[in-house]
Amino acid sequence: MNIQYTSEEIEKYRRSGKILAEVREKTSKKIVVGASILETAAFAEDLIRDLGGEPAFPCNLSANGDAAHFTPSADDESVFGCDMVKLDIGVHIDGYIADSAMTVDLSDHPELVEASKAALKSALGIIHAGIDTSEIGATIEKTINEFGYKPISNLTGHGLAQYQAHAPPGIPNIHTRTGTVLQEGEVVAIEPFATDGSGRVKDTSRWEIYHLTTEKPTLPRIPRARKLLQEIMEYKTLPFAKRWFSGEKVDFTFRQLTKAGIIKPYPVLSEVTGTLISQAEHTLIVTEDGCEVTTR
Ligand code: CO
Repeated sequence: MNIQYTSEEIEKYRRSGKILAEVREKTSKKIVVGASILETAAFAEDLIRDLGGEPAFPCNLSANGDAAHFTPSADDESVFGCDMVKLDIGVHIDGYIADSAMTVDLSDHPELVEASKAALKSALGIIHAGIDTSEIGATIEKTINEFGYKPISNLTGHGLAQYQAHAPPGIPNIHTRTGTVLQEGEVVAIEPFATDGSGRVKDTSRWEIYHLTTEKPTLPRIPRARKLLQEIMEYKTLPFAKRWFSGEKVDFTFRQLTKAGIIKPYPVLSEVTGTLISQAEHTLIVTEDGCEVTTR
């Protein structure tokens, strides 16, 4: 696979990354004990648009033993407690995505936060065109283990493609026997997760984020469902939050569309044995002798 983006496309990757870095910085300061979780998510998403981008997925604010895919519902009244919060943000310009996350720790576990941060740093330090993804996974695992923690083995970094927030290849957070060789020009997100738990996450029965299962779904006959689906289709196949839609019977219609297989939820992913998880993530363009991080 030879990835050749035009200079205009690369510029869009860089611009979405720049916007993301500013949004991440400003949103992280809003995450304090007692602050509204819903207002924080909305702040991030509004700021993305104000700066000229679009959210590539809803602002994720997964806490403690939740690793990913939590975003508040429209009626969420909860506030941050003494939590370990993973702020995971996606920005796109014309589908060219930046994806980055950081941990805002209100729980006082600095070593666990440092473990995923150091793992990301070590991964970024060895990436170049021609590297095998299994080497990246090995570095991540080794670094996190040195802190006395475990990487989450069943979550991975990933490629990015136009309007595709999760494209191949998967980039493991553990040593794997075989991997994929990264090519010059490829855009990927590296996202180590560190935990004091088992090192595995499972689906929960909580979800607020969905995606379209096909770009060209059959439109339902019921006008209300048809109208909602047409609004959803504007996000193409990028993830969206239920709270982004208003109108009559949104919950009911979401259930109908889910049942029909037209949309699919992303359940919140939670550590099998509970406890705490930290995360760090950057998006980068693979270069001949290294990488260009777009989300710094
Ligand atoms: Co990601």
